[in-house]
Amino acid sequence: PLTARATERDRLAIGGCDVVELVARFGSPLLVLDEHTLRTACRQYRDGLATYPGESLVIYASKAWSNAAIAAIAASEGLGIDVASGGELYSAHQAGITPDAIYFHGNNKSAVELKEAIACGCTVVADNWLELETLAKLADPQQPTRVMLRLTPGIECHTHEYIRTGHLDSKFGFDPNQIPDVFAFVARQPALDCVGIHAHIGSQIFERQPHQDLAGVLADWLQVGLDAGLPLRELNVGGGLGICYTEADDPPSIREWTEAVAGAVAIACETRSLPLPKLICEPGRSLVGSAGVTAYTVGGRKEVPGIHTYVAVDGGMSDNARPITYQAVYRALVANRLSAPATATATVAGKHCESGDILIKDAYLPALQPGDVLVLAATGAYCYSMASNYNRLPRPAAVLVSDGCADIIVARETYDDIVRQDRLPDRLVFGTR
Ligand code: LLP
Repeated sequence: PLTARATERDRLAIGGCDVVELVARFGSPLLVLDEHTLRTACRQYRDGLATYPGESLVIYASKAWSNAAIAAIAASEGLGIDVASGGELYSAHQAGITPDAIYFHGNNKSAVELKEAIACGCTVVADNWLELETLAKLADPQQPTRVMLRLTPGIECHTHEYIRTGHLDSKFGFDPNQIPDVFAFVARQPALDCVGIHAHIGSQIFERQPHQDLAGVLADWLQVGLDAGLPLRELNVGGGLGICYTEADDPPSIREWTEAVAGAVAIACETRSLPLPKLICEPGRSLVGSAGVTAYTVGGRKEVPGIHTYVAVDGGMSDNARPITYQAVYRALVANRLSAPATATATVAGKHCESGDILIKDAYLPALQPGDVLVLAATGAYCYSMASNYNRLPRPAAVLVSDGCADIIVARETYDDIVRQDRLPDRLVFGTR
């Protein structure tokens, strides 16, 4: 994070807070979110997209980490919010985000979720026929629902196959073959105000070219839609910019990415003589990912002679499912001995009952001792939001740090939280049979 530094005691400080003290105060594992880094990323997106000659809007893809404090920060920086379920919609609403800044995604929104979206007044990004037809029935012609259409652009990019979405064989969006029928259908719906089109090609992408190509594809479809009489005036290019997890990662900066996208969309529209639509992008990872770290406490170790040293920490795949799911690679440092030299490799294991519960394979680190505070970098995105209670571990707390202050933004779960939804039918109560 931008505000990470070493304290006089050779400890890691983030946002002016000593991470070892944070763990002592708030417990372990602990997610630490640096407000300055998050706000800086919001501003870089907003200012970068403002190089587009038309209107523009950045919306935070809250699936990366849906949380009231993060939503409030994004909103205070002028960002809207992308939600992908009734739960994320409810969270954004509770956080006080105004409906005109909320865009509702997802490839299988239920009728209940669509009703919630209509009642809230947000924009619905329709993904398929069923959704579109249901929405057309449920919405009120007196107060048409704002709709965008998600289209599958047929653009390949280099990233993990689980997080690629732009290729034609994807579960998301309308197939290009369906577009003429879809446009004709929406144009006839008095209850739908079809404001624009959307596509998202994938996540953790380091190239700029796929998004530049996307601008051309979307502009072509914009033209088809306008010709079909639709009042299209917004174009959403999705999210996807990657971040650095290791030194080997080399993504473009937010500024470079937004300028490339803004330029490509402007040129694509100008060459087709189209009126400039409002340009929207919806980053998640690149807004919040680098702003967060996870601090763990080191426990026991196991030496497998000649093969491995395992060092276990007090969390694992329940608070960070990315290594086991995508073979994601992380880097770590020892927060209580920042300048201790790395001397050997150790595999950082979680505490779950799975051999695959490994956070970092063969990390080159100082010799770790029980009680050391090991910090994994860049865990702000898709860690808490994908966290589980596997093995009934309570989910960790999260604190927001800024100028030496730390505030809880997610309370640590308790054992009571974990059993809260359990129900014991009377006939199972011991001694009643
Ligand atoms: N818009 C849509 C429609 C999306 O599906 C996504 C991410 C985004 C925006 C934000 O993409 P980002 O800027 O964060 O790359 N759990 C995976 C990532 C899944 C991404 C899902 N969609 C991971 O941990 O890598």
